[in-house]
Amino acid sequence: MFKQVIQGSGFYAVDKEHVTFLEQCLICIGEDGVIQDVVLKESSQYSKVKMEYMREGKLKVLGENQMLLPGFVDLHIHAAQWPQAGMALDRPLEVWLQEYTFPLEAKLNDIETAYGIYSEIVDSTLENGTTTAMYFATIDKETSLTLSKLCGEKGQRGFVGVVAMDHKENVPEYYRDASESVSASKTAQFIQQVREVEKRYPQKVFPVVTPRFIPACSDKALEKLGEVAHEYNGYIQSHVSESDWEHEYVKNRMGMNDAKALDRFGLLTPKTVLAHGNFLDASDAALLAEKKASIAHCPLSNSYFANGVLPVRRFMEQGVNIGLATDISGGYSPSMYQAIRHAVLSSKMLEDGVNPSVQKEERGVANSSITLNTAFYMATVAGGIALDMKLGKFEKGYIFDGQVVDLSINLPQHHVEKSMEDRLHRFLLLAQRENIKEVWVQGNQIK
Ligand code: GUN
Ligand code: FE
Repeated sequence: MFKQVIQGSGFYAVDKEHVTFLEQCLICIGEDGVIQDVVLKESSQYSKVKMEYMREGKLKVLGENQMLLPGFVDLHIHAAQWPQAGMALDRPLEVWLQEYTFPLEAKLNDIETAYGIYSEIVDSTLENGTTTAMYFATIDKETSLTLSKLCGEKGQRGFVGVVAMDHKENVPEYYRDASESVSASKTAQFIQQVREVEKRYPQKVFPVVTPRFIPACSDKALEKLGEVAHEYNGYIQSHVSESDWEHEYVKNRMGMNDAKALDRFGLLTPKTVLAHGNFLDASDAALLAEKKASIAHCPLSNSYFANGVLPVRRFMEQGVNIGLATDISGGYSPSMYQAIRHAVLSSKMLEDGVNPSVQKEERGVANSSITLNTAFYMATVAGGIALDMKLGKFEKGYIFDGQVVDLSINLPQHHVEKSMEDRLHRFLLLAQRENIKEVWVQGNQIK
């Protein structure tokens, strides 16, 4: 017996290249929020299922101008940086971190301040269709726990990390862990606490071991955090090979690129998500593929801070799983629609090159552009793969996270689409927040 049946049309990504359109299907959701069946219009069971659940008052029929999309997975977002979204993006990364970001994050050790900011960003991402988010909080354990509870209460599937950073030269005294032991012990305690919180919510919330990035952590802290992650079989997140400065710093200190250095500390596992990764080389990508660690692509943030574009297609061809992310506030927008747009846009610029004075043959990197279908896949299914969860598809066995969207506003109402895909693409490019009418997580309507 199903908890809820939803009748409507919708799209999801079947793989990296292809989307599928379901026309007026019945999505049958179990008590646990997992899809038990998808009954197509052509099926002999269609009328029977529809009538039965209509009679029981458990059938929801989408409106004429509505369709269903999977909820988005934002694979990398700094909840604490929400108040400075849109600020100081013209500074270099290292200046922005020291002058804006660390002072702001340090303020969130106050519970009231943190509660207000975290409430806003969880609401805002949910209203933008993000049903799962992998968050950096701050170095403060108690308020990081507040973020995980807020995700739980508001119905978002939050993956939350208390940030570990102890490096004596590279981060200011007012915003660092007192020692590598503090970094490790607070992380272990945080994991235990979030795992208690997790049980209260159907969609669950998850703790994440979070060394900020190699420049902010001592070798000893990285080593201990690797041990904690191993002991608790925990998720791991960090930043890697983001900008020239960051990448060069790590090469000088470690004698190798970030990915290999993290691996030495036991921090590359199938539950690892690495933000950026723009300057990883082919051997780093091969290592990520081998370890089944994922990249969180942050195209908007990269345009400001990264000095380069992530070669998404090349790394995917090497077998690396790549999801998509807003990277608030390196990226200014909480909308994964924006992340989708910028992923396609920046890949085109990588392919074509950007300097018109250079001959076209030499200007860009061939075979770099990605399609909107690929970006849609990255924002949904690939995010699920990164988190080891069945997300992003309307298929039996997948968790039901969805957005009910309205096509009657903000879009041209004169129809010249040549295919159903045209309809999806136009929506992905033009949708705004008001187009998202309902948000569902784990089979429950939360907006
Ligand atoms: N590297 C270390 N910390 C950060 C951060 O907060 N944002 C970005 N974009 N890069 C980082
Ligand atoms: Fe980041």
